[in-house]
Amino acid sequence: MDNCKPSTPTKTLSKRQPQYRFPFIPVSVAILLLCFLVFYYNLLKPNFLLPVVSNTFKSQSLQCSNQALAIGERFLWYAPHSGFNNQLSEFKNAILMAGILNRTLIVPPVLDHHAVALGSCPKFRVVDPDEIRISVWNNVVELTRSGRYISIAEIIDISSLVSSSLVRVIDLRDFVSIWCGFSLDLTCLTDSKEQSSISNHLTRCGSLLAGVLDSADKCVYAVNEDCRTTVWTYHSGDKDGMLDSFQADEKLKSKKNITYVRRRRDVYKALGPGSEVEPSSLLAFGSLFTAPYKGSQLYIDIHESPQDKRFQSLTNKVKYLPFVPEIMNAAKEFANVTIKAPFLCAQLRLLDGQFKNHWKATFHALKQKLEALREKGPLPIHLFIMTDLPGDKWADTYLGDLVSDSNYRVQFLAEDDGLIRAAAKKLQATGYGQRFIPSSDDKVGKKHCSKQMLPDILLHVEQAVCSCASLGFVGTAGSTIAENIKLMREFGSCSASGQS
Ligand SMILES: *[C@@H]1O[C@H](CO)[C@@H](O)[C@H](O)[C@H]1NC(C)=O
Ligand SMILES: *[C@@H]1O[C@H](CO)[C@@H](O)[C@H](O)[C@H]1NC(C)=O
Ligand SMILES: *[C@@H]1O[C@H](CO)[C@@H](O)[C@H](O)[C@H]1NC(C)=O
Repeated sequence: MDNCKPSTPTKTLSKRQPQYRFPFIPVSVAILLLCFLVFYYNLLKPNFLLPVVSNTFKSQSLQCSNQALAIGERFLWYAPHSGFNNQLSEFKNAILMAGILNRTLIVPPVLDHHAVALGSCPKFRVVDPDEIRISVWNNVVELTRSGRYISIAEIIDISSLVSSSLVRVIDLRDFVSIWCGFSLDLTCLTDSKEQSSISNHLTRCGSLLAGVLDSADKCVYAVNEDCRTTVWTYHSGDKDGMLDSFQADEKLKSKKNITYVRRRRDVYKALGPGSEVEPSSLLAFGSLFTAPYKGSQLYIDIHESPQDKRFQSLTNKVKYLPFVPEIMNAAKEFANVTIKAPFLCAQLRLLDGQFKNHWKATFHALKQKLEALREKGPLPIHLFIMTDLPGDKWADTYLGDLVSDSNYRVQFLAEDDGLIRAAAKKLQATGYGQRFIPSSDDKVGKKHCSKQMLPDILLHVEQAVCSCASLGFVGTAGSTIAENIKLMREFGSCSASGQS
């Protein structure tokens, strides 16, 4: 590592700095990674930089390379799934885990809504951790190929977490470049000869991340415990290894032939420094989804602990992670310029699963709130509606009545609104600045995935608008979107300052 005299990375860093809005990775990691890059480029320049995948390239990077291990950084990966708000809650858990285990969190993209599912923890019917990791990888490849890849850190603002050094992060794409030795962007090459070689790489890298390639050395430790057997705890004292209060009942046990029990385990003792896991470069969890259930937690039962100040501030920050300023500003602009008055927000989930059968209750809550507002005046009452019911289906519902009633002024947002598109464009432009290592192809002035689509941010802006509704908020019972809006309102996200 002769190339790694401080002067080289420092120079590179300062040259690039203006592009970044904030230090996405703490400087120590930055320098480490840059050292590594310089080292890596010098070593592998010919085939790493060539867009064409040569045979030499093919024979490398079957395992995480020695170079990847040489940087000494330890990483944490997990399998996000289901809808956006679920992915957000897993992201928060992943940040906590990375903090506890002192590993660099690999930041995933926002996955397609129904691309990956976990199943049901209470029913003991879930997809195995390695399988769910593979599904996530497949969706990552698909997102890249179709130009829809957007990191969750381009939607959710973790800049203050990162700058306070409470957690270290790396974008998944950058991690893949370092660790698997190729750029995900190569996925978009269309030449058929190259494609088979690339798909080979993708499969191997995916298998490595999923922990299904048997690597006895220090590459990967794959966590294969899930919510059927384990509830992760932290600072649990002598309760480590105890049975959890929620277990499969006898009926379920015989029906599913369940022979295991659910134990509460201290994640730091099991997977942290000093454990057999510590030397592994990558620690891969499966799902990090949890929820309260029958007086316990389904998978993660970790709380702040006064004895650990650093962890205390991490849990406090993770409780509420704001949207990035581009999303908040679009929402504030809509409230200021389009609605222009104090307003009520109604979030109505009317389609999809359980929500189909509860229209009456959902509308009832809104009716009551509106009647109360009407008595107080003044009229008209301004109302912002976010719903999954398409506009052309409103006519025969309570929504149709509201739109035609002159006592109300109803507003809503749509995907193709100028405001949404403008915000998406801004976000896309700054989004690139959040990457730590620009993709290798930028370096040779050629990108294979050139058709990047505008990110879909409608739902996020709608939630942000609802956080600004000064007349109140009516949500749909049981909806995670409603929960998130309540959280935003509680933390005063609308009044928090944020410049574009
Ligand atoms: C956490 O990891 C970093 C980087 O690997 C290391 O420098 C630091 O000493 C570790 N902190 C603790 C408390 O182990
Ligand atoms: C139930 O599980 C045990 C242990 O996993 C296995 O040995 C046994 O064959 C299974 N029985 C049935 C009916 O599947
Ligand atoms: C919205 O209006 C308030 C008060 O009129 C103003 O202070 C604020 O800057 C405006 N925000 C935007 C995004 O236009």
